[in-house]
Amino acid sequence: MTDILIDTSNGVVTITLNRVDKKNSITADMYACMADGLAAAKDNAAVRVVVFQGHETIFSAGNDIGDFLNAKPSTEDAPVFRFLRGIATFPKPLVAAVCGPAVGVGTTMLFHCDLVYAGDNAAFSMPFVNLGLCPEAGSSLLVPQMMGYHRAAEALLLGEPFMAEAAMEVGLVNRVVPPTEANAVAQSQARKLAAKPLSSLIETKRLMKKGQSAQVLTQIGEEAVSFGRMLREPAAREAFTAFMDKRRPDFSKM
Ligand code: COA
Repeated sequence: MTDILIDTSNGVVTITLNRVDKKNSITADMYACMADGLAAAKDNAAVRVVVFQGHETIFSAGNDIGDFLNAKPSTEDAPVFRFLRGIATFPKPLVAAVCGPAVGVGTTMLFHCDLVYAGDNAAFSMPFVNLGLCPEAGSSLLVPQMMGYHRAAEALLLGEPFMAEAAMEVGLVNRVVPPTEANAVAQSQARKLAAKPLSSLIETKRLMKKGQSAQVLTQIGEEAVSFGRMLREPAAREAFTAFMDKRRPDFSKM
């Protein structure tokens, strides 16, 4: 599919979000394509690293809001959940290059990446509450853990965006670079990883993550139940309809 480009070169699989006219918002088909790409990369012994990247003006506007209205994920096998479990359990290194807005899953997926390089225009946000929803991708566990509770509350309760430098300060981003260089820096770091022994990469990542990998999967499951219910409730319907109608949502009666 052209909305997701998957390229393999010298042990590095690069997954590019390529729906720039819709701000790289992610449809069910795109989640399916990325989930399949991750599964193939996991099973292919020649692949050592996966890189996610977007465009230098936009990483991702998060889930496609039309899909939230018309194609809600309803089973555990829904493409979005396959994708989230795929990144949360991916055994090999994941690298991301992020420029411009990274909204919703555009930010939460980064908590599952091992290295993140951001353009100085990167703006991270998790406005789930503003959409009548709750966090996903394990972010209700991972964001407070990484940022501390009070900064997490600003990000998750107020839905306030934070920029690349702030993301680096809390440890979500490894390095801030000019947007024109972010993809190249991520590729260069991925090539360094790809030159290392795969078994050592996998074992080191497993050991770093093992303390909480089961807890993360449990949290993703619990969030998915709440998120799935809230997608069908009036607050979310109002938020999505308002976005489509290009007006401010009115939550005064909810
Ligand atoms: N789902 C579906 N379409 C989206 C989208 C989304 N999440 N985000 C943007 N788009 C579409 C817009 O509807 C618009 O389409 P149109 O040209 O047919 O009208 C196009 O992408 C450009 O978006 P626009 O809002 O005009 O761009 P912008 O540069 O002013 O703002 C964002 C960029 C990312 C800040 C803004 O689009 C935004 O906030 N998007 C919604 C983010 C969101 O709430 N995501 C869900 C997270 S759970």
